[in-house]
Amino acid sequence: MPTLAFSTDASAARPLFLVKKEGLADWLAAQDDATRDWVNAAGFKAGVGEVLPLPGKDGLNGAIGGLGSGKDRARGRFLAAGLRGKLPEGVWRLECDLEGDELAEAALGWLLAGYRFDRFVSDSKPLAMLLPPEGVDAAMLERIASGEALARDLINTPASHMGPDELEMAARDLAGTHGMAVEVTTGAELSKRNLPMIHAVGRASAREPRLIDMSWGDSGPSVALVGKGVCFDTGGLNIKPGASMQLMKKDMGGAANVLGLAHMLMDSGMNCRLRVLIPAVENSISGEAFRPGDILDSRKGLTVEINNTDAEGRLVLADALALADEDRPDLIVSMATLTGAARVAVGPDLAPFYATDDCDAAALVSAAKAVRDPVWRLPFWEPYEKMIEPGIADLDNAPKGGFAGSITAALFLRRFVTAVPRYMHFDIFGWTRESAPGRPKGGAGQGIRALYRALPEILG
Ligand code: BES
Ligand code: MN
Ligand code: ZN
Repeated sequence: MPTLAFSTDASAARPLFLVKKEGLADWLAAQDDATRDWVNAAGFKAGVGEVLPLPGKDGLNGAIGGLGSGKDRARGRFLAAGLRGKLPEGVWRLECDLEGDELAEAALGWLLAGYRFDRFVSDSKPLAMLLPPEGVDAAMLERIASGEALARDLINTPASHMGPDELEMAARDLAGTHGMAVEVTTGAELSKRNLPMIHAVGRASAREPRLIDMSWGDSGPSVALVGKGVCFDTGGLNIKPGASMQLMKKDMGGAANVLGLAHMLMDSGMNCRLRVLIPAVENSISGEAFRPGDILDSRKGLTVEINNTDAEGRLVLADALALADEDRPDLIVSMATLTGAARVAVGPDLAPFYATDDCDAAALVSAAKAVRDPVWRLPFWEPYEKMIEPGIADLDNAPKGGFAGSITAALFLRRFVTAVPRYMHFDIFGWTRESAPGRPKGGAGQGIRALYRALPEILG
């Protein structure tokens, strides 16, 4: 059964009453005596994730599920998602007074609670299913859930099974589904086609570096999505300590996110011209590795002094951004697990983003609130530009001192976007550390539901 979709079988659906803590008294007052007594006797308080089956004359009549207090809902998202795994199997239909974005959040949470990373385990417990609630765009929610699941799957897949080659295959799969054109430049070809930094970062690995370039659509405004596809980040010769390397299979989280977003945009048939660029590399160690102190040429012609081989993401993105910029789309968006500093600044579940245009930023922030995909704007702070200028090259990939690490990385990337005035960049974490309703521990989409909602407005 497709657990990320709604049920279409209304014949035997049972009601699931969703009740907020503050609404429980009213709900009880509207029930018959037997139901009221049962719910009271069972001690049901409508706490987060609380479920109580409602018995009837011929067995199970329905169930009531708690949505917690206003404070609970301000602290957590997708609280209805936690009910799904506790309900008896079968088909349910929502009975509640939620509407608009709140109802959509509950329904999407339900779908996302059906996500499992089951590639390496054989456990397929059947799950309760839901009819699409009246008043939600069911197809849109299913599309969002499948885009999010794609991003999670790609991130969760370990580097043993998700190298540059497999990432290319995953991109080609998506392209096949939607009729995208795909062009891939691999290995030594990268140098010939003037993508020197993608080559330099990826050349130490036995698994060849590449640039995946996909396009779709022939009318409407144009947008380029650029995603960091570092399939594993050892840090290179500036090797990471073990604990910092442990999760680095997720360093292609930007690529996974732009692929998930691209799926959402194309599946909805958005009127736009879309280009997706993914530099896919492994930041490895060998005699071929690029070194601290090296000076690299870039596609744009700017030279870059390498002060830390672990600041590799901005290098591969820079060549991809320069290429995107040459095409002059209306908007360029990059997404990357770029800096540890971003996580230090805002923590793992808020996605910091940068925007050159205030209206674009405002549209994104309000969309993010509506779809509960939290983002926070950080500044392209001009006075810090001097921090990325080392003296013997045009740019420094890893400014000393470590101040404002996410901002200096964003400023670095912006140097490669000069023809396109509107640029947005997301420095994401891409990972859920502790399971929460609808968000199991593991790979995470960040900012893509917000972008999916905002892009039609942003692109006008
Ligand atoms: N992929 C890492 C950043 C990262 C680390 C993201 C942990 C999320 C969690 C990136 O390539 C990196 O290593 N950045 C360095 C840059 C520094 C050397 C200037 C960092 O942030 O420490
Ligand atoms: Mn790194
Ligand atoms: Zn990295």
